[in-house]
Amino acid sequence: MNEQVVMVQGSPRAASVSSALAEEVGQVLKARRAHIMRVRLAELTYRGCIACMACKTSHEHCVVKDDLTEVLEAVRKAGILVLSSPVYFGDVTAQTKGFIDRMFSFLTPDFYESPVKSRLGTGRTLVFVQTQGQPEEGAFADIFPRYKFFFEWLGYSRCYLVRACGIETTADTPAYRAACEQARRVAAQLGE
Ligand SMILES: Cc1cc2nc3c(=O)[nH]c(=O)nc-3n(C[C@H](O)[C@H](O)[C@H](O)COP(=O)(O)O)c2cc1C
Repeated sequence: MNEQVVMVQGSPRAASVSSALAEEVGQVLKARRAHIMRVRLAELTYRGCIACMACKTSHEHCVVKDDLTEVLEAVRKAGILVLSSPVYFGDVTAQTKGFIDRMFSFLTPDFYESPVKSRLGTGRTLVFVQTQGQPEEGAFADIFPRYKFFFEWLGYSRCYLVRACGIETTADTPAYRAACEQARRVAAQLGE
């Protein structure tokens, strides 16, 4: 594998479980010579989509110029996106949602009617890492399917989920180790 990977970490925490699990995925990919760009969204300054619609009328890309500009450009070139977020109030973090909304710029102007919805083509891979305080797995199980629907529009035909529920630290516990193992298992499937 000689693949471009963008790893977008949506947790604001320094010792973040979701970021650490994303790193586990990244390590497996790195061992396969993938090139990884890591982005910690909380360190960037950017806005969500401002609905200017330039990307649907006059331009092929997002015209908002801020710290996400180069991230979106990297995502455009990358076959794999590793996107991690803790659950905040039943959804991804605000940082993550702002990034996802700016991916609107990858949709074609006629995405509602056309079978070709994405400027990214098809066949891309998304690894979505979700952590939550709530240990019950049934809680917040709706998040991944909801975003998968839109990521498929964006050309991510292969979407994988890594999940950890009720794990708040990266301390070496059986539960955290199992989550890391899950992350490595998912990563090992990529490109098969
Ligand atoms: C503002 C805020 C909102 C949260 N909302 C939820 C929630 O709705 N459900 C839940 O299970 N955990 C919730 N949590 C807990 C986080 O999801 C949990 O701490 C997370 O797994 C930490 O991931 P991280 O280490 O990657 O930041 C919330 C935490 C914060 C700070």
